[in-house]
Amino acid sequence: MFKLTGKHAVITGGGSGIGKAIATLFAQQGAVVHIIELNADAAQQAAQQITAAGNQAFAYSADVTNQQQIIDTFQSIGKIDILVNNAGIAHVGNVEKTAEADFERVYSVNVKGAYNCLFAAIPVMKANGGGVIVSMASIASSVGIADRFAYSMSKGAIHAMSMSIARDYLHDNIRSNSISPARVHTPFVDGFISKNYAGQEAEMFQKLSQSQPIGRMAKPEEVAGLALYLCSEEAGFITGCDYPIDGGFIKLNN
Ligand SMILES: NC(=O)c1ccc[n+]([C@@H]2O[C@H](COP(=O)([O-])OP(=O)(O)OC[C@H]3O[C@@H](n4cnc5c(N)ncnc54)[C@H](O)[C@@H]3O)[C@@H](O)[C@H]2O)c1
Repeated sequence: MFKLTGKHAVITGGGSGIGKAIATLFAQQGAVVHIIELNADAAQQAAQQITAAGNQAFAYSADVTNQQQIIDTFQSIGKIDILVNNAGIAHVGNVEKTAEADFERVYSVNVKGAYNCLFAAIPVMKANGGGVIVSMASIASSVGIADRFAYSMSKGAIHAMSMSIARDYLHDNIRSNSISPARVHTPFVDGFISKNYAGQEAEMFQKLSQSQPIGRMAKPEEVAGLALYLCSEEAGFITGCDYPIDGGFIKLNN
């Protein structure tokens, strides 16, 4: 079960954290993985680790905010069966602590970046007779999280775009779903803890771990497992849905 043999899978932000775990697992399951990254070194390193394990991966240096770069990159990849819209950035702050430039930066990567990849991938999938899309949303898509104004805006948009795509391409054999993780232990989390809570890193890590009723953060591999299921043929009846993977955050925090 859950084989992706011969499927071409594009994973944005596949050089780190959740995207890297997805690239690694999809390649293990037989996919030819295409990692699109702003950080060219990280993409190369991830692709090298995957090929060293005997699986197939290619690295592309591109910025998801740049539509022409994304169109050119997708054209050079050719066939695309799976798209994982994963590249994302965060900003900590309520609306008063979100400057216009912060808002635009988060919008540009998280929202426009996903749009650019959808814009480039959908015609290819239609021409190939179908495809599967998974987009990385967040619990912030559906729950009010403190001090995540711009981030919540962007993840709400991911959820909505994912459903819109699912509706519009029902009859093109394209499925589209989103995943909403609570806190996952990746460089993304370590980065914003050290940037925003300098000197209180250990205390903040503990606090963020405990905010999941299960008492810890998720591992990137656990999110990758859900992405694999959603992209597999076994999930052929699932489209237009959002899947929380949250250690009980949404339903059990009472
Ligand atoms: N870690 C969490 O707790 C968590 C929780 C919920 C949702 N998410 C979402 O999951 C996704 C991955 O998060 P992560 O924790 O693995 O992050 P990460 O920072 O470890 O990895 C993100 C990757 O995206 C790449 N990237 C950033 N901007 C880019 C751009 N403009 N073009 C191309 N690549 C770009 C980065 O270089 C990086 O390698 C993000 O969308 C994030 O919002 C993360």
